[in-house]
Amino acid sequence: MYKLVYLRKVCVKKMKIDPIIKWSGSKRSQAQDIIKKFEEFDCYYEPFLGGGSVMYAVNPSHAICGDICEPLIGFWKIVQNNPQKVIEYYTNEWNRLQKDGYNVFYDIRSRFNIYKSPLDLLFLSRTCVNGLIRFNTEGNFNNSFHHTRKGIDPKRLEKIVIEWHKRIANVQFICGDYRETTQTATKNDIIYLDPPYENTKGRYYGTINYEHFYKYLEELNRKEIKYVLSFDGIRGEKEYETGIPKELYVKKYMLQSGNSSFKKVMDKSNEQVYEALYLNW
Ligand SMILES: C[S@@+](CC[C@H](N)C(=O)[O-])C[C@H]1O[C@@H](n2cnc3c(N)ncnc32)[C@H](O)[C@@H]1O
Repeated sequence: MYKLVYLRKVCVKKMKIDPIIKWSGSKRSQAQDIIKKFEEFDCYYEPFLGGGSVMYAVNPSHAICGDICEPLIGFWKIVQNNPQKVIEYYTNEWNRLQKDGYNVFYDIRSRFNIYKSPLDLLFLSRTCVNGLIRFNTEGNFNNSFHHTRKGIDPKRLEKIVIEWHKRIANVQFICGDYRETTQTATKNDIIYLDPPYENTKGRYYGTINYEHFYKYLEELNRKEIKYVLSFDGIRGEKEYETGIPKELYVKKYMLQSGNSSFKKVMDKSNEQVYEALYLNW
């Protein structure tokens, strides 16, 4: 039998997570509630890394993290190995934007869609509408410039880059499918999974085959490897419930995660979002 528990956000002071790169589906507002459910582990795995807020909250001493999005993993590697390069790049492009206006954003967007440079991805995430990273089916970035915002000030970003640089010192980054990133996991490790939701096709880079994903969860259960999975959600009146077979998990929590920025943009609504968290122990 599985257990379902609803958790409302309680107003206790939490660690502030300043995002370094904005990412659709970010778990920033729930990261600390999510990691409260973790048990001790040797190695932390996060194969759908995105903007990495859960990894940041964990602050692991040994971790393997990955994503299918190549420029994103390229970005994480630059933050790890050469944070100064990130700061210099952003400062130059941000100054150019302030001087020459929004055409700079569209130049960088076209350049990104040809060369897929990790630093251009950072710039777009920091200056596009509501920081919503959105790709079309060809994998091209297609959000527009946020006219009423200037983009984060380079001096503020510099502090954030240095903070993340320290946090990710012990992380090995892998660009690839989730199964590849987690193939070395064992019983003593923990895997946090945050795949693209079934109903959000096209917003993320890449999609997954859910039949394969359920087989993967089955395999983790068979090997007794612990997983924590963020999956479906309830947005306002609508329930985005997916068909995770009940035998694949042991507990289910509903975490309140704030308002949906995607919905805010699409139909200007202010819906409360609950997201489910599944545990296999
Ligand atoms: C919901 S987002 C993760 C958000 C992340 N937890 C955060 O806080 O920013 C899902 C991620 O899965 C990645 N992805 C999609 N298909 C994948 C696959 N087959 N293997 C690994 N990553 C994949 C996307 O690029 C995206 O970054």
